Amino acid sequence: MFDLSGRVALITGAGQNLGAEIARVLANNGAAVVVNDLFPDRAGAVASAISAAGGMAIAIEADVTDLEAVGQMVSEAEARLGPVDILVNNAGVPPNPSWDLLPFHQTSPESWRAWIDINLYGVLHCCHATVGGMVERGWGRVVNIVSDAGRTGEGLLAVYCAAKAGAAGFSRALAKEVAPHGVTVNALALGTLGPPGGDPELVQRMARRYPVGRIGAPADIAPAVLWLASDEASWVTGQTIPINGGYATS
Ligand SMILES: NC(=O)c1ccc[n+]([C@@H]2O[C@H](COP(=O)([O-])OP(=O)(O)OC[C@H]3O[C@@H](n4cnc5c(N)ncnc54)[C@H](O)[C@@H]3O)[C@@H](O)[C@H]2O)c1
Repeated sequence: MFDLSGRVALITGAGQNLGAEIARVLANNGAAVVVNDLFPDRAGAVASAISAAGGMAIAIEADVTDLEAVGQMVSEAEARLGPVDILVNNAGVPPNPSWDLLPFHQTSPESWRAWIDINLYGVLHCCHATVGGMVERGWGRVVNIVSDAGRTGEGLLAVYCAAKAGAAGFSRALAKEVAPHGVTVNALALGTLGPPGGDPELVQRMARRYPVGRIGAPADIAPAVLWLASDEASWVTGQTIPINGGYATS
């Protein structure tokens, strides 16, 4: 239904789980995709699988928290595939995250930085490197993957929530700046997604918090990214859209 032929899409943190599924779905619908990840082996495996299935994909290793590395990634992507039309800021979980689930006043300031760097600075870096070109060409799509935790608040995850709420607020403001130029900016606020092969007891316990009776999966999210990246979603911008199994309504 949605045709992304001729478009180039950059998906950050696409070496596994949600990012990999988004890359696969956008490629299946015609986009040439840049599979970014901090770990080249992960990005390479996803890009190879897409190529083997008949899609167009390249892997580029870069750390989105590093402004210079992001600039180099975008230059390489543009040299190999052409200008980036679609940016999906998916990277949001640092390697070896400390989910130290402590009340905020007991956390150490050193533990905050990784969450802010990837979830806020990573988004700023990637938008800064790509949105100018989208504005010049008169077409672009930015989809920022945030969390319902940042929309509704989740105890013991205060800094993660702050960073995701910051990314959503940034999306709303950027959307207003670039809307006259054919560029849309939206955020998807997700509920919990299941790790394949996760501890069944934990998954079951988490599922009880979701009215639909289960936690989510990458396949529940990627079609929404496809829609937001399409021509058909040109009147949707500045929104934070929850996809959460009914966890929080409004
Ligand atoms: N999984 C969930 O339950 C859930 C819920 C709400 C929101 N989200 C959001 O969805 C997104 C994807 O989550 P996921 O569970 O698929 O994550 P994940 O940890 O499974 O995968 C993230 C990928 O990003 C890569 N990465 C980490 N740091 C990076 C960096 N600095 N630069 C580039 N790549 C980097 C990792 O190597 C990894 O391959 C995140 O933004 C996350 O906050 C996830």
